[in-house]
Amino acid sequence: MCGIVGYTGDKNCVPVIMNGLTALAYRGYDSAGIAVWEGSELVLRKAKGKIDNLKAILEQSPVSGKSGIGHTRWATHGEPSDVNAHPHTDTRKTLAIVHNGIIENYQQIKGMLVKNGCEFVSETDTEVVAQLLGYLYRGNPLTALKQAVALIEGSFALAILFADDPETIYCTCKDSPMVLGHGQNESVVASDIPAILEYTRDVCFMQDRQIAVLRKSGITYYDEFGVEIQKTPTHIDWDVESAKKGNYEHFMMKEICEEPETFRKTFEQYVSTKDFTLKSDRFPWSEEQAKNFDRLTIVSCGTAYHAGMLGKRFIEHMAKLSVDVDIASEFRYNDTMLQSGEPFLVISQSGETADTIAAMRRAKEIGCNTMAVCNVTGSTISREAGSVMYTYAGPEIAVAATKTYLAQIIVMYLCALDLAQKRGAMTAEAVSERLREMSKVPASMQKILDNKEQVQFFASRSFAVKHVFFIGRGLDYALAMEAALKLKEISYIHSEAYAAGELKHGTIALIEDGSLVVALATQPELQAKIASNMEEVRVRGAHVLAVTNGHWEGAKGHSHTQWEIDQMDETLAPLCAIIPMQLLAYYLAVQKGCPVDQPRNLAKSVTVE
Ligand code: F6R
Repeated sequence: MCGIVGYTGDKNCVPVIMNGLTALAYRGYDSAGIAVWEGSELVLRKAKGKIDNLKAILEQSPVSGKSGIGHTRWATHGEPSDVNAHPHTDTRKTLAIVHNGIIENYQQIKGMLVKNGCEFVSETDTEVVAQLLGYLYRGNPLTALKQAVALIEGSFALAILFADDPETIYCTCKDSPMVLGHGQNESVVASDIPAILEYTRDVCFMQDRQIAVLRKSGITYYDEFGVEIQKTPTHIDWDVESAKKGNYEHFMMKEICEEPETFRKTFEQYVSTKDFTLKSDRFPWSEEQAKNFDRLTIVSCGTAYHAGMLGKRFIEHMAKLSVDVDIASEFRYNDTMLQSGEPFLVISQSGETADTIAAMRRAKEIGCNTMAVCNVTGSTISREAGSVMYTYAGPEIAVAATKTYLAQIIVMYLCALDLAQKRGAMTAEAVSERLREMSKVPASMQKILDNKEQVQFFASRSFAVKHVFFIGRGLDYALAMEAALKLKEISYIHSEAYAAGELKHGTIALIEDGSLVVALATQPELQAKIASNMEEVRVRGAHVLAVTNGHWEGAKGHSHTQWEIDQMDETLAPLCAIIPMQLLAYYLAVQKGCPVDQPRNLAKSVTVE
């Protein structure tokens, strides 16, 4: 939440910062701002609304300089407005600061600062840090920063320009991501990798309370006590183009179209495609551990939680291991029966979701064996988990997760197979056969993408619909949860997922003429059951769209529209059937004129509670 970019070096910092903010717009987009040292003057430009508003202001009143900081905001304290937009300064204008996170004790500190003559202009918690730093500053930025960090509570990533040292950027963070880029005659800081990929691939990730001092000549790191430390940069092999929109109208469509490739890349990391065997050392448990597991707990948020729901069904079905799945924000405060030594898995695209991090830390305190499924190398979760299984989706820019969800469910599927083999629930031959089948799924996905106009056409006739219900049984129910979230978050159409058999226990009262019911019916064994549920809503006026695994003649009688995916093993079908669901959400949102990549009120990386 909120994106930070800072640059110091040979170039004019303004285009670098603006490009970076554009790449980070998914983190927040209700206002943006920039602070630049132009000669000896600190120039600020801020604008409410999307980054384009700031760009327009910069076109009218250009500014340039060799060092600067910028910010794109997702409001927490203070409404979105020009004055609440970052950067903020102190009363004496000794510094400018941008901040990601929430300062929890800001009111207490503000009271002390007001008594000492500070005049506040905004409603933000960030200005409190600016004023506090200004108040503590006695000529040494590092000392002031150390003192300030010791006083503030909450989460923060801060980038600061001091008037007395204009070509240097000071940074620190706690529970908020910060990545530092080591370039040639330039240094960059940002909240996430895509903002700096164009300048360097050699990056260091900040750990809590460390301090980084960025100069053109390089970056110096200090621990929280101010002792200099050495950090070795990691080389990021993400392709620059993968963080760009290319010829696509939206990142979301680009990312959906990348799914067959994401599938192959992730699959090949965990499976030897010569003989279709699992690379068993890539999984975080030994055979002995897997055999002794009594239960696995999976915790995550949003789409990643839905990947956990599907993971539970894969693992229970194939590995015969009981799995509990919980939402991180609930898990962290509920009573827990977890015991020391139990396996505990978190799933997170960003690796920075505050609730998921807190849940994982709680499990660590209990003494659990923590593991993570994560897309971002160097993120907090990937650093703190006992072991990590990466998803190989590359950068995902659209706020709505698509290719990363796919990569998560692929990893969950492979975990299920690995556990099944290690626990003796499946033979090596049966696992190999399943992997061979699995390797064919990307071709089936591609067919859906090549025929996406079918979905577009359906959306063009359905976009006025007010309520959409996604129903399914077993694996299809877990998939329905994700399909419903995708639709509501980008199209603002009310949508819910229901276990198909549960409808008649209350929800069916909502069905009326014109309701759209999407029946996910990819599980042949459950077809007769879902057929009854489709019929129950059809006769009450719903338009029923059935998604089937191969041809199912029976679907015709109970639905108005049928979409078929290629016939495949029923456990693999969700991996393919998610694509038409993502496309449906996309096209309905486009038809309604919604800002697909940046839906209202959302941000991609939820780094606050
Ligand atoms: C929805 C979406 C969110 C995230 C959730 C967790 O499309 O992307 O629901 O899944 O905020 O984020 P991560 O996976 O980064 O922990």
